[in-house]
Amino acid sequence: MTRLVGREYMNNGQENTSDSYVIRPQVLRNEIMFQGQSLAPGQRKRTQKALRALHSLEIMAVNIYRFQLNRQQTLLNQELIAAMCNEATHTQDFLVKLYEYGMRPSKFRWFWWLVGMAFGLISRFLGPKAMLKTGVWTENKAVAHYTELLTLDWDPATRAVIEKDLADEQKHINTWKHLLETGWKKNDKIE
Ligand SMILES: [Fe+2]
Ligand SMILES: [Fe+2]
Repeated sequence: MTRLVGREYMNNGQENTSDSYVIRPQVLRNEIMFQGQSLAPGQRKRTQKALRALHSLEIMAVNIYRFQLNRQQTLLNQELIAAMCNEATHTQDFLVKLYEYGMRPSKFRWFWWLVGMAFGLISRFLGPKAMLKTGVWTENKAVAHYTELLTLDWDPATRAVIEKDLADEQKHINTWKHLLETGWKKNDKIE
């Protein structure tokens, strides 16, 4: 199978190749550190709420792409696998942050797992255009949510993670928009 190279996505005038950015960055052992010892009770509550929301929404994002995928070796499926991998990394990012802060994930995260599955399956049933539009819509929601949560008072390491993931969501929007604009072909198989 040939790798896709050189396809370009536009982001604020900057060019980017679809396969040239890291979708699962490495984490070194010494980057795992306890956080939040000096948080005031109110601030701790807000931090927990935000991290739980981010973790749950990333679980939803993984499932949207996972359930949109089918078994064909197409360009669209290749992009969906990459996005699914990237969202799984985001899920890990916030799971780690929750435990570093001495917190636990939301008890209701299964609900977001189901919502992701529903969005994925329904849009897959409606076809590639609906899948791509669902991607753009949910990623735009994610970008708005991340941007809002960045206004909280984060430690530098957690802020860097949120900013990295926000930039990834923006890349997902660009990828789905690009495929919508250039037209997705049913026989766009990878040789
Ligand atoms: Fe994400
Ligand atoms: Fe995303």
